[in-house]
Amino acid sequence: MDTAALQQRSDSDLFTTASRLMTNALEPGANYTQVTRALEALLALTRQGLAGDAGAYAHYQSALLQLHIPGDPRTEPTRRWMASEVYRVEDEFAADLPGFTALPVEAFRQQVDAEIAARSRVNHPMSVHLFQGTPPVQDVRFFLEHHWTRSYNFYSLLAELAFRFEAIEDASVFYRNLYGEAGAETPQRSHPAMLAHLMEYFDIPLAIDFPALHPLEKAYLNNRIRCVRHTDVAWGLALLYAVESVSCVNHRRIYELLQRLDVPEQPSEFHRLHGTQDEIDTEEMWALIAKFASEEGFQRTFMRALKRHFEINKAYFDSLWQQMQAQRLSA
Ligand SMILES: [Fe+2]
Repeated sequence: MDTAALQQRSDSDLFTTASRLMTNALEPGANYTQVTRALEALLALTRQGLAGDAGAYAHYQSALLQLHIPGDPRTEPTRRWMASEVYRVEDEFAADLPGFTALPVEAFRQQVDAEIAARSRVNHPMSVHLFQGTPPVQDVRFFLEHHWTRSYNFYSLLAELAFRFEAIEDASVFYRNLYGEAGAETPQRSHPAMLAHLMEYFDIPLAIDFPALHPLEKAYLNNRIRCVRHTDVAWGLALLYAVESVSCVNHRRIYELLQRLDVPEQPSEFHRLHGTQDEIDTEEMWALIAKFASEEGFQRTFMRALKRHFEINKAYFDSLWQQMQAQRLSA
């Protein structure tokens, strides 16, 4: 056996061992030693993955997603604790910004908005294909399937971040948003229920096969959850501000695409609504951010969080675009 084959075999042994330890650690009656052994293996893979090893990266993102998605409630504290230790390693690897200098709050907002505009998905080749071209229905369906994977439980990100704020007037920014997400007084009009109508129209299953997702999609989902659970609110505020502030434009473009495809009004309602509505939330969220933004440390972490989100977002969209093209070639 040559060196590369030996290396591959030892990696696969490592991944198998880490998976086995994780399975044991997530048994409801697992003891402390079983949990810490699994955690040590996972943290080693996290370091290896973030240092550039693609196999280890895929494995750690899978394991982290397993910790993030709902499981047996008796293992919830274990899963939260293990995930929080992974975040600490991720923090070490999230690039610092050596040339960073703090700005007055208004100028800081301009910098943040400029960064978000510069990283817009508008010019991504997949967006150009979908929103400026004449995409085949199977490409639209593929895009919407992954849209569901990203969006079906957006409300849970708001709920997680709301818990980070002690003052009710701060937390209420997210509770007001949640009230709308949940359909206000009409649960049938909750946003996931509306989006589900579109999935049904395109015959997209609502159940998500999480282990089967691409590692870069797992990384995208994991990073969102990590940011809103982070004890430093700069991470969660940066993430949700980046997502919310482009939501209106992105959803409007999808709505227009659905109109071009003659999708009826009811399955299109989620996008019609989000193409006009989310801007108010962005202003409210900025008012909350502005309360913290006079601190240099907050500004720095906020910009680090944006940088990491956009790096992961770009890798994820590149991979979706590749998969979409490969699917078309094999059809
Ligand atoms: Fe929504």
